Amino acid sequence: MSVERIDKLLASQGTKSRSDVKKLIKSGAVTVNGEKIKDFSMKINPEKEEVCIYGKPVSIAGYVYLMMNKPAGVVCATRDKKEKTVIDIIPEEFRRKDIFPVGRLDKDTEGLLIITNDGEFAHKVTSPEKNIYKTYHAVTDSSINDSDIEAFENGIMFRDGTKCRKAFLRQLNDETNPLVEVRICEGMFHQVKKMLAVRGKNVLYLKRIAIGKLYLDSALNKNEVRHLNDIDKLNIFLDELH
Ligand code: URA
Repeated sequence: MSVERIDKLLASQGTKSRSDVKKLIKSGAVTVNGEKIKDFSMKINPEKEEVCIYGKPVSIAGYVYLMMNKPAGVVCATRDKKEKTVIDIIPEEFRRKDIFPVGRLDKDTEGLLIITNDGEFAHKVTSPEKNIYKTYHAVTDSSINDSDIEAFENGIMFRDGTKCRKAFLRQLNDETNPLVEVRICEGMFHQVKKMLAVRGKNVLYLKRIAIGKLYLDSALNKNEVRHLNDIDKLNIFLDELH
């Protein structure tokens, strides 16, 4: 793990808020390599430096980045009074108090979902300005034509006047209910369904298969979760590097 602010690292463990951590540090309860610290913006490498609170070593797990093959029927939220959430179905060994889904998939949408406790990373992945295209496969009730493709590229306009950014559309087979691929760099509510609806098509099934160049791992069954590795993380931002 790289160097990070100590208050951010301690808060990322999920047991204390950032402001509680700051208070703790100001009170002199935290030591780094045996030295009392008062500066909560101090940067440390938790793999190399020993952090103690009230003399007790804390093991800092740092950030977690998970890939989930989201099933239909669960909501993308950390908690919900009525519905089962993606966090509820995370296997025990991956569970942490502070993790949240990166962006939102509808309850009936399946596929690639990233779950993390790193807010900055989540912002980079979801922010439309970062141009990270998300790829969806949708089964629709009718075929697409060249003017649909052009309309997506020019930016679909919703009825309320919201204009979508440039998006890409292509048909992947010639079934009665064809499979189409949609690539968008935004995450507006029901965006893919609404964009296709503007062109007169209903979505019968929707699955996200990629974020940037990170594809849903075909070895992951529905509901399953695995850690992202460094190559996975690079793949998300690959287009940005060019
Ligand atoms: N667009 C949608 O319509 N639904 C999703 O779940 C994701 C993108």
